[in-house]
Amino acid sequence: MTLILGLESSCDDSAAALVTSDRRIIAQAVIGQNSAHQPYGGVVPEIAARAHVEVLPGLIEQVMAEAGVRPAQLGAVAATAGPGLIGGVMVGLLAGKGLALATGKPLIAVNHLEGHALSPRLTDPELAFPYLLLLASGGHCQLLEVRGVGHYRRLATTIDDAAGEAFDKAAKLLGLPYPGGPAIEALAAQGDAAAVPLPRPLVGSGEPHFSFAGLKSAVQRAAASGAHEPADVAASFQQAVIDCLVDRTRLALERSNARTLVVAGGVAANTSVGDALRRLAQQHGRAFTSPPAWLCTDNAAMIAWAGAERFAAGLRDGLDAPARARWPL
Ligand code: KG4
Ligand code: ZN
Repeated sequence: MTLILGLESSCDDSAAALVTSDRRIIAQAVIGQNSAHQPYGGVVPEIAARAHVEVLPGLIEQVMAEAGVRPAQLGAVAATAGPGLIGGVMVGLLAGKGLALATGKPLIAVNHLEGHALSPRLTDPELAFPYLLLLASGGHCQLLEVRGVGHYRRLATTIDDAAGEAFDKAAKLLGLPYPGGPAIEALAAQGDAAAVPLPRPLVGSGEPHFSFAGLKSAVQRAAASGAHEPADVAASFQQAVIDCLVDRTRLALERSNARTLVVAGGVAANTSVGDALRRLAQQHGRAFTSPPAWLCTDNAAMIAWAGAERFAAGLRDGLDAPARARWPL
């Protein structure tokens, strides 16, 4: 059994977690920064980076103390090395390097997307490779065939906004707080999803890519017209996003022989999104799984787990591992 400390700081959540190679989450802590960014309607990179500097060391102390773990008991230190807001990535990666240096333990530089991609295997020991992953978060919207640790085939990505970003922008247009996903989901529950005609960008196109910018513009027009109830706009918007996600994922499923469909990333925390994709998987005779909501949004348990999977595969990184703003899987 190996004990891995994971660190996450690539966006607006500072997080530390201790996870074992046999899938036990020993301790974890997350501090979000929603209130700091709320006045701006989105994440401000410098505010985020400064906040990570302030809270990450305390979170590391907290999880180590809660678990009663001494640094010498760690097997390795895993830290997100990108992609993300570069200031924040540098804070967490350098914290990881400092710990690795002080303890003499190996460093594992984790791709944040790999953290999301492998996260369902932390809570579902039965989930075998390969599986088809829809990763829908604030920064990413991708369809990936997860073939093994370090082996990913990207089938689709977004040509403009990510799905979560679309939720955040639509929420801002409707005067809802950041992050927009949970706020839209709550408002949509009181609205009529058929009330406002909105486009479904790229639905029916021959490649399974995503696009949400046109949908945002249509929401802007609908909201500005004053002709619709905000709850109807929210419900119609959410349904349009779901229709896009389902149509594009259907195409990818038809091109993959993976037996399981997995949905992860912050948008997977949306119940209607999860339900629609579960139905899609059933229609295609595939199994379906989605990590619990706390594991879908950014956290350090998924980084520690990706570190554990990489450690088990014999992968290590040097103290010169770069921090990367862009880092495709
Ligand atoms: O994975 P995540 O925490 O961070 C990134 O790596 O981006 O995802 C955050 C994104 C935000 O855009 C947020 O609005 C969205 O996930 N989100 C949701 C819901 N909860 C979070 N979107 C739709 N419905 C939700 N319930
Ligand atoms: Zn993420």
